[in-house]
Amino acid sequence: MAQRRAATMAGVVVVGLLLAGPGRNGFAQSPDRIDLVVDAARAGARIDRNLFGQFAEHLGTGVYEGVWVGPDSPIPNTRGIRNDVVAALKTLRVPNVRWPGGCFADEYHWRKGIGPANSRAVILNPSWGGVTESNAFGSHEFMDFLGQIGSEAYLSVNVGSVKPKEASERLEYMTTAQPTALGKERAANGQAAPFKVAHLGIGNESWDCGGNMTADYYLSQLKIYSRFVRNFHPAQQDRNRMLRIAVGPGGGDQPRWTQWTDTIMKAWKDRSWSWDIDGLSLHHYTVVDWSAKYTSVGFGEAEYSRFLKATLEMEQIIGTHSAIMDKYDPQKKIALFVDEWGAWYAPLAGSDPAFLVQQNSLRDAVLAALNLNIFARHADRVRGANIAQMVNVLQAMILTDKAKMVLTPTYHVFRMYVPFQDAAFLPVAFDAGTYAHGGVTLPRIDALAARDASGTVWVALTNIDPNRPVDFSVRVSGMGVRAAAGETLTAATVDAVNTFEAPTTVAPKPLSAKVQGDRITLTLEPKSVTVFSVR
Ligand code: AHR
Repeated sequence: MAQRRAATMAGVVVVGLLLAGPGRNGFAQSPDRIDLVVDAARAGARIDRNLFGQFAEHLGTGVYEGVWVGPDSPIPNTRGIRNDVVAALKTLRVPNVRWPGGCFADEYHWRKGIGPANSRAVILNPSWGGVTESNAFGSHEFMDFLGQIGSEAYLSVNVGSVKPKEASERLEYMTTAQPTALGKERAANGQAAPFKVAHLGIGNESWDCGGNMTADYYLSQLKIYSRFVRNFHPAQQDRNRMLRIAVGPGGGDQPRWTQWTDTIMKAWKDRSWSWDIDGLSLHHYTVVDWSAKYTSVGFGEAEYSRFLKATLEMEQIIGTHSAIMDKYDPQKKIALFVDEWGAWYAPLAGSDPAFLVQQNSLRDAVLAALNLNIFARHADRVRGANIAQMVNVLQAMILTDKAKMVLTPTYHVFRMYVPFQDAAFLPVAFDAGTYAHGGVTLPRIDALAARDASGTVWVALTNIDPNRPVDFSVRVSGMGVRAAAGETLTAATVDAVNTFEAPTTVAPKPLSAKVQGDRITLTLEPKSVTVFSVR
């Protein structure tokens, strides 16, 4: 196998080496070949760049240390925001960041997070370990952070534990250009021009940590918030307006979740002039068992295959809720925002269990690619998604330890997928085959294609099978192919991770592909994610 990988990297397919007999799982290591055709003539929906959103909650070291170190920190920072994390996130072209929670959002009081740093109240964060919350990172710091990484705000407002007036004043404070008392207060706090708030989440998991509401009770709150929490930014009054996102379901076809979606969507269809929404959220984590027995490191093929099978449930969950939405909204005006997703494993040994710290392996990279592909295939309805969470929490892009920082395998997938942001979905035809381990059977290959604004076609291929490489032949219908270039992400084992000491164990390497006539030929390594352009 090592010989084959080396040969493939050099762009030479040495078939003779592959006919040596069955591999360690009993699969014949024959040079399997898959033909894939990209249909460039049938462009589908735009793959909204907001599918690549991030989520940063006041949880563990996700914000404090992960983003905010304070202006007096020895860690290099700009106005308190760490420079290394900003540089890494800029490369991802993060479209939006959802903040400040999660469960924390329904206990957050925005007023405590504005004004002079030394006068901000220290409070508790009961949702996440009862630790103290300094309020040092508030609305101004959040907007500064977004400015530094070139992203937009997805604010979640507190619906669970305050009155609507708190959220409406928060929005006036942030967005008005008029010299109102709140507008002047913002200016006195250093921001004369109004802030732009691109997305507004009206509550978070209101069926659980957001207040254990029934769908009907939440709906009554939603109507009030939708009516009174206004965005006053002069540049956001028409097509560029703030998108209001209602709390949606937390699962698939169980009645609890289908009824929730049905309640909100039916009410939306019958709405009066005085309230409206633009999106419905969906939360779904890849979890095999909540009993914390599955770890993010030190696992084998059995857990690899089980988690990838679990993550593919996203397809059916989106399908279920899209179908309900179609009933009331056939024109797909309301977007589905999968604004919490990702793998949720046992907390790392020695970490505070309330901080949700986990490592991030090659398995997570494959898992991320599979989810992004699912979102893109539903791009006509799914127009936003936020992986949980950006730094140091759950399936993170970045891990930090004081001054040290490391990029995770999931980060690399998000970086490789940047060209898909706002590209037009293109259908692909191929035989995915199967990969089986123990009692788990999965498609062996997943694929996504899209055309960007410059006309370049991009293809993403995931080889789920951790044992068998695949020879691929790719053709783009109606297009002559001159060149193909890209990257592959893989590693020696499914549980390979990047650490502060060994940060490039899982890192992309250049892809070796050949153009033969109207086709691109390449070999997909086992357990790998590959993205390449076709010109
Ligand atoms: O991402 C961690 C938590 O998971 C969020 O706070 C909550 O919304 C969800 O249950």
